[in-house]
Amino acid sequence: MNKLQIGIIGCGQMGQGIARVCAQVGYKVKLYDSFEGAAEQAVTILLDKIPTANFQLAKSLDDVSDCDLVIEAIKEDYVTKQELFKSLSSINPSGILATNTSSLSVQRLAQAVKNPERFIGLHFMNPVHVMPLVEVIAGELTSVNTIEQTLNFCTSIGKTAVQCQDQPGFIVNRILLPMINQAISALEAGLANAEDIDTAMKLGGGFPMGPLALADFIGLDTCLAILQNLYEEGKNLTFQPSELLVQKVKQGQLGKKTKQGFFTY
Ligand SMILES: NC(=O)c1ccc[n+]([C@@H]2O[C@H](COP(=O)([O-])OP(=O)(O)OC[C@H]3O[C@@H](n4cnc5c(N)ncnc54)[C@H](O)[C@@H]3O)[C@@H](O)[C@H]2O)c1
Repeated sequence: MNKLQIGIIGCGQMGQGIARVCAQVGYKVKLYDSFEGAAEQAVTILLDKIPTANFQLAKSLDDVSDCDLVIEAIKEDYVTKQELFKSLSSINPSGILATNTSSLSVQRLAQAVKNPERFIGLHFMNPVHVMPLVEVIAGELTSVNTIEQTLNFCTSIGKTAVQCQDQPGFIVNRILLPMINQAISALEAGLANAEDIDTAMKLGGGFPMGPLALADFIGLDTCLAILQNLYEEGKNLTFQPSELLVQKVKQGQLGKKTKQGFFTY
């Protein structure tokens, strides 16, 4: 899988991270974002980290027509992602089309694609250059060839791939988000303060980072969106977002990116 051309759609924190790990192994990476100036800004930041990398700005979606693999990392929303994949499947006739969704159904997104055999879920963890895992999720019609090529791609960028079924939250978020949500509920109930809740889970649970600091790091808006999507899928109360999380997001306290979440940065 040498000389792959990778297209990245959405140049936020995940898109940039995925672009970085692809460029690190010498792949040519084309970046596209619908927000004016976002792709340019991402390329500037990325070139600062890897000056020798082969990044190219995609001025429109048409520019990723020849990519072997196009990875989507845009807004976590069915309609927006489905519209994108509908266009992409016409523009790029033969590449693998992958979604980095955290909480949406890969199969439902695949329905927007003309040839669903080349559609797959490729769920990176944040921060991408640090976290070694990628979850690989096939849709009902994803071909064996697409799965094999995707697994080879993960190995080629130094990641460990774990395959799982297309069920809400996949493996990591299904287990992690309820824990974060429970930590927030515990804080809301006055069980202990934020520092002590995190200290308890680090020293008593063996976690490298406390759940509240982790929530701040992921982004409280992202945590809320994931929980809401998981809750909507099956109305399982395990995923019902805690009131304090909803309030924090309403107040614009989104965690590290706004310098205020459960902790101040
Ligand atoms: N943040 C995390 O920890 C994390 C982890 C794993 C997966 N994800 C998933 O990755 C995706 C992106 O998350 P993020 O945290 O990077 O978000 P982000 O808000 O940092 O970036 C999203 C980018 O997509 C662009 N965008 C939005 N709609 C677009 C469109 N239609 N076409 C092109 N560009 C568009 C935005 O301008 C923005 O630059 C989401 O699906 C999210 O669930 C996030």
